[in-house]
Amino acid sequence: MKLTSVFTFFLAALTASATPLGLYKRQTTNGSSNSSSSSSGTVPVIITGGSAVSSSQSNVTTTTLFNSTSTLNVTQLYQIATQVNQTLQSESSSGIIIVTNWQSIETLSFFCSIVFNTSKTIVITENHLWGLPILSSSQAQGRGTLVAGSDSVIYSGVFPPYTVPVGVSSQKQVQWFYEACQPTLIASNSTIRLQYSNFSNTQISSSSSSSSTSGGAGGGASNSSTNSTSTPSNSSTAAGGAGTSSSSSSSGPLVPIIYEEGYSQTLIQSLGSSIQGLVVISSGTSSNSTATSWTSVPFPVVYAIDASSSHDGSTIGFLSNTSVPQGAVSAGYLSPIQAQTLLSIAINNQVTSTSDLQMIFPASQQ
Ligand SMILES: *[C@@H]1O[C@H](CO)[C@@H](O)[C@H](O)[C@H]1NC(C)=O
Ligand SMILES: *[C@@H]1O[C@H](CO)[C@@H](O)[C@H](O)[C@H]1NC(C)=O
Ligand SMILES: *[C@@H]1O[C@H](CO)[C@@H](O)[C@H](O)[C@H]1NC(C)=O
Ligand SMILES: *[C@@H]1O[C@H](CO)[C@@H](O)[C@H](O)[C@H]1NC(C)=O
Ligand SMILES: *[C@@H]1O[C@H](CO)[C@@H](O)[C@H](O)[C@H]1NC(C)=O
Ligand SMILES: *[C@@H]1O[C@H](CO)[C@@H](O)[C@H](O)[C@H]1NC(C)=O
Ligand SMILES: *[C@@H]1O[C@H](CO)[C@@H](O)[C@H](O)[C@H]1NC(C)=O
Ligand SMILES: *[C@@H]1O[C@H](CO)[C@@H](O)[C@H](O)[C@H]1NC(C)=O
Ligand SMILES: *[C@@H]1O[C@H](CO)[C@@H](O)[C@H](O)[C@H]1NC(C)=O
Ligand SMILES: *[C@@H]1O[C@H](CO)[C@@H](O)[C@H](O)[C@H]1NC(C)=O
Ligand SMILES: *[C@@H]1O[C@H](CO)[C@@H](O)[C@H](O)[C@H]1NC(C)=O
Ligand SMILES: *[C@@H]1O[C@H](CO)[C@@H](O)[C@H](O)[C@H]1NC(C)=O
Repeated sequence: MKLTSVFTFFLAALTASATPLGLYKRQTTNGSSNSSSSSSGTVPVIITGGSAVSSSQSNVTTTTLFNSTSTLNVTQLYQIATQVNQTLQSESSSGIIIVTNWQSIETLSFFCSIVFNTSKTIVITENHLWGLPILSSSQAQGRGTLVAGSDSVIYSGVFPPYTVPVGVSSQKQVQWFYEACQPTLIASNSTIRLQYSNFSNTQISSSSSSSSTSGGAGGGASNSSTNSTSTPSNSSTAAGGAGTSSSSSSSGPLVPIIYEEGYSQTLIQSLGSSIQGLVVISSGTSSNSTATSWTSVPFPVVYAIDASSSHDGSTIGFLSNTSVPQGAVSAGYLSPIQAQTLLSIAINNQVTSTSDLQMIFPASQQ
């Protein structure tokens, strides 16, 4: 995930016109299932990428939203959320499986963890077959969004993919490692659930929309601090293909990720008018992060640690609020991609002040 984490924004912009947009193509496979068994056992599956579902698959109802090969952006995440909401409300099923490409597992599982306050089971996976046993388990509920891996291990959706296992499945059943419980970040008495109930909106709020001129801008993905990769002037060509008029169908906030070493005044000035938030990958303990000040920028800035690049091989790290510059918020134990996702959700609900964000991100010292 490490490489893509930095390029997410860049890729999303680059591929904006290249990705085929087969939005909302509903394909209901009744398959060869017998009518007697189809009403009770049908599992809703939403396809956004990843492995195709064989059309002969019985007791699965598929809905294809996208066939994306790159990381889903926040606009697409909210399109998925709307569909999931509708599906969960209309179906008697105990849950839902969302199939996506491997690059999107981290952002999609975290997004669903935050947005869906439901006891129904939401499984994110690259192959719907890996998720089926989970939906058959009577004890899958109340664990938040889950990620089903190819190794039969089931992971929590709140943490970077494939890091915190909660169970293991065979083809027939699941062995859970713990009693059902929610991660602290989204527990029923968490700040997010108690004070930010609007985070469970499944729509893009129109006022958070980025303007249609916001296409280009690579976000300084490389380490080069002076020759940054971004050239905002190319925006109209980069994003131009896909509905230049921004077609009133709103798109989500633009929140690029940059390396701290890639920061430059020029970069911020040129990005300033087209982005709604910024995630900075902290350079870590080796440098004094507190040297910069973000108090005067017009958008929220969140610092996150990229633990996947640490030499001890860990994938989760921690950054405290005292280790970030003035005006910035620490993402705590969230990865850069997760920070980008949570900040996007917050901005979508017009929560942008430093003090509010400090309550949401898991970094506060008590
Ligand atoms: C999200 O991705 C879609 C499809 O690639 C693209 O049309 C859209 O412009 C992107 N939106 C943003 C905000 O990047
Ligand atoms: C479906 O029904 C046919 C006969 O109508 C039967 O032969 C077949 O075994 C059934 N399949 C399942 C999966 O129940
Ligand atoms: C699926 O099968 C059921 C029962 O056999 C039938 O009522 C329904 O119309 C079918 N739906 C589609 C989309 O074929
Ligand atoms: C699918 O259908 C088969 C036969 O009808 C049944 O044994 C199985 O439990 C069903 N699977 C799910 C996930 O409902
Ligand atoms: C998505 O597209 C790829 C080719 O780019 C194809 O192999 C795959 O089957 C498609 N998946 C779905 C779900 O249509
Ligand atoms: C949530 O509840 C648990 C126990 O049920 C408690 O330990 C924890 O402090 C509570 N958290 C908050 C933020 O109130
Ligand atoms: C979350 O769901 C629980 C149970 O349905 C409900 O009591 C609570 O109000 C919901 N919280 C939010 C923030 O929607
Ligand atoms: C799901 O959609 C329904 C309307 O279709 C809406 O009333 C409800 O608030 C939505 N739930 C969430 C969590 O957004
Ligand atoms: C990034 O830049 C810093 C300072 O210019 C340098 O010390 C570091 O080795 C560079 N890192 C990479 C991965 O190029
Ligand atoms: C920046 O790029 C220009 C043209 O590609 C090159 O001449 C210049 O040396 C580069 N500067 C740095 C600091 O890399
Ligand atoms: C970090 O920078 C701040 C402000 O420039 C300074 O007060 C502090 O002493 C520095 N800390 C270290 C460890 O260099
Ligand atoms: C969402 O909830 C927060 C906390 O209550 C509030 O500050 C914010 O204004 C709300 N957003 C919207 C769009 O109402």
